[in-house]
Order: sequence, then structure tokens, then C-alpha cells
Amino acid sequence: MPPESPMKLAGKRLVLGVTGSIAAYKAVGLLRAFMREGADVSVVLTQAATRFVTPLTFETLSKHPVATDLFAAQQDMPHLMLPERADAVIVAPATANCLAKCALGLADDLLSTLLLNVTGPLIIAPAMDGGMWHHQAVQTHVATLRSRGVLVLDPDEGPLASGRVGIGRLAEDSRILAALEQALAQKLDWVGQRLLVSAGPTQEAIDPIRFISNRSSGKMGYAIAQAARARGAAVTLVSGPTALPPPSGVDLVHVVTAEDMQKALLARLAWSTVVVMAAAVADFRPLRAATAKLKKDGGYWKKLDLAPTDDILLQLSQQRRSQVLVGFAAETESVLTHAAAKLKRKGLDLIVGNNVAAEGSGFGSDTNAATLIDREGRVQELALMPKRELADRILDAALALTRSRPGRPHSTRRT
Ligand code: CTP
Repeated sequence: MPPESPMKLAGKRLVLGVTGSIAAYKAVGLLRAFMREGADVSVVLTQAATRFVTPLTFETLSKHPVATDLFAAQQDMPHLMLPERADAVIVAPATANCLAKCALGLADDLLSTLLLNVTGPLIIAPAMDGGMWHHQAVQTHVATLRSRGVLVLDPDEGPLASGRVGIGRLAEDSRILAALEQALAQKLDWVGQRLLVSAGPTQEAIDPIRFISNRSSGKMGYAIAQAARARGAAVTLVSGPTALPPPSGVDLVHVVTAEDMQKALLARLAWSTVVVMAAAVADFRPLRAATAKLKKDGGYWKKLDLAPTDDILLQLSQQRRSQVLVGFAAETESVLTHAAAKLKRKGLDLIVGNNVAAEGSGFGSDTNAATLIDREGRVQELALMPKRELADRILDAALALTRSRPGRPHSTRRT
């Protein structure tokens, strides 16, 4: 007989929250899947969920009482005790209402109150009709939750209860299980590291109305800040103007110009152990920003005097002591050659080269493909993946470099 594969959730205590979506019936299968992998699962139903599935179903299968009411006379206060004892909390399916309450911190029933007491991994698998999922309010709540480190899964695509076909189906059990396993395996290998990371574009004023900037969204730098925080690092994020919600647990410093960014980063260099320069710093700034709006019939548009901005990364490299320094190379061609040259010229430990013109890799996209080159000339080609995943790969490489070079003096001079 082939050996039985080990149960992936053996010894794990989970809380499964079920809310009032038609997909609530699928939570029964999910509970069984968790239990098959060896988990001990306590289930909490919202009142709306009990309209679709009964507590008795979950009680019988989980072999635990099912909590549904915040005000029921219960000795052990499930809104406190359940999350305290759990290795992870999963909400599946989560309605739009549940996402909104969780994002806003509302606590008007047992599950929403319990969610405010979760300190470990929280995985939310939404299910709703496609139009609702795409609504800006829902997407804003999802972004808020993700910025707090909550793992919100995108729903699956397919036939919906409404008869339409689209995105909105509860993620398959296998996806929820994979996310759970990943969350439980989260390494805390950055504990003790202090990460200084820059993100986003800078804006260089032409006059009080107009500026020079670039298409950077800040997503890569924010993903790195979030990933490092999740792995236990203390993180300072120096960010140019972006539309992203602030990542939780991260010290966020807002800047606008390249000069502001330079000051903010140099002032914090000594504090850091690793610096990642993911910002897209404007290379040029208007020599003099006009103090009043330039009129279009004033003839100014014919000539804009520009001055180069300082290369912040080079300055960081020249002033660092033992910090590991990671740069980016945004290219549209010959990525490897340009990135390798920048690594050398700026005296970096690691450079992340990416082709910003490639499909799925440009500014603003949620995915990225990259080539990592380290100071020893080792090259790692990374296929297209979500920026959050790439962030972890960059952090893996940077952390390895902090370990492999004890005592080497860090000083780079212009030649
Ligand atoms: N960088 C910086 N300060 C600048 C310009 C860039 O610190 N004034 C950093 C970026 O944050 C990135 C790296 O240098 O980590 C490479 O940036 P990139 O724009 O790809 O290259 P540049 O050095 O600006 O060279 P070029 O524009 O000629 O490709």
C-alpha cells in the first residue's frame, strides 16, 4: 500500500466563520476538507448564515458547539476565546456586508466582534454576484483589508446563483486550503531586521499646478513593505504620492519630491539593516519651479530648463555601513545588461531588473516578472507572478545576502 500522505493541518485549531451567502452550503464541504487534513475546527455562523444552513449541520460534523449569538449566555465568551485559541481564522463565504464590517471594524454580532480579536492569520474568501464584487465600495474594503495583512482571496469565475456568468463564486476548497497552509507556514525570518523601503513616483513642480512625474503606482514597494512586516521586520516606507492604502504596522513617511525622498531616506539609513529602493525617482526636475501658474500664452512651454536630480541610491551606497542595498532597474529593453551595469555602477548587493514594457509587468499592474542579479553575479529569472509573491522572493534573496557577507565593509565611491 502506498504510504498515506501526512495530514497538512494536523494539530491546527481553526475557526471557520460562515456568513449569509447562498454559497454558505459550500462551507460544509470546506469544514470536511479542513477536518480531513487533521484540523480541529470551531464554526461560527452569522444570523444570516443560519437562514441558509443550520448550526446542527456544523455541530454534528465539527463535534463542537456552533456559536451564533454574541449575547447568548456563554461562559467562555467565544468572541474572545475562539480567536485566542485558533491558529488561523477563515471566513468562507464572506458577503459584501461582512467585508465592509471587517474593513471598518464594526462589531455588531458575534463574528464581526470575534474578527476584531484575531491576531493570527485571517483568510477571507468572498462570494457574491459579480456586479457587487466589482463595486468600488467592495473593492475599497478589500484593499483596506489586504493592506492590513488579511488574506482576501479573489472569488472564482463561473456560473453565479443569479444565472449570470462572472467573478463571484466562492473560491474552490483547494484554493482556500492552499492559502491557509501558506498562511500557517508564514516564516518570521525577518525578525530583527529593519527595512527601509521607498516606493512610488516623485513629483517635481513646474508651477503650483503642474509637475513632472512618471507612471509608478507604488504597488511593488508597498508589497515589499507588507511582506517584510508579515515576516517580522520593522519597516519604514518612504513613499511618493500614490493611491494605495497605508500598509498596517509600517512606519509610513510621505514625500513628494526627489529631494524630500533623498532627505527622508538618508536620515533613516543608519537605522536600517536593509534598504530597498523601489521608488521611481524622477530623473529631472525643473531648474526653478514657478511660484505662480504659468499661463499657456506666456511662451514658457517652448523651453523648460531641467536639472538632474541626485541619484539617491548611489548616495545611499556611498554612505552605508553594513546595510544590504537593493535597487531596481526599470527597463524597456536589454534588461539583464542594463540591470547588471546599474548593480555595479551603484555598488548594490542586489538588483531587480524588470521589463516595464512587457505584458503584465508594467507600472500599475498587480503582477511583475523580474530578473534578480546579486553582487556575486548570480542571476535568477522569475516568471510573471503577483507583486506580493515577487516581494517575498526579493526578500528571500536580500536576507540571504545579509547572512553571506559578515564584516565586509560597505563603501562605494564614484570612480
Ligand atoms: N534611483 C535613485 N535616484 C534617482 C534615480 C534612480 O535612487 N535619481 C534608483 C531607483 O530607485 C532604482 C535605481 O536607482 O532603484 C535605478 O533606477 P532607474 O530609473 O532604472 O535607473 P537610472 O539610474 O535612473 O538610470 P536610467 O534612467 O538611465 O536607466
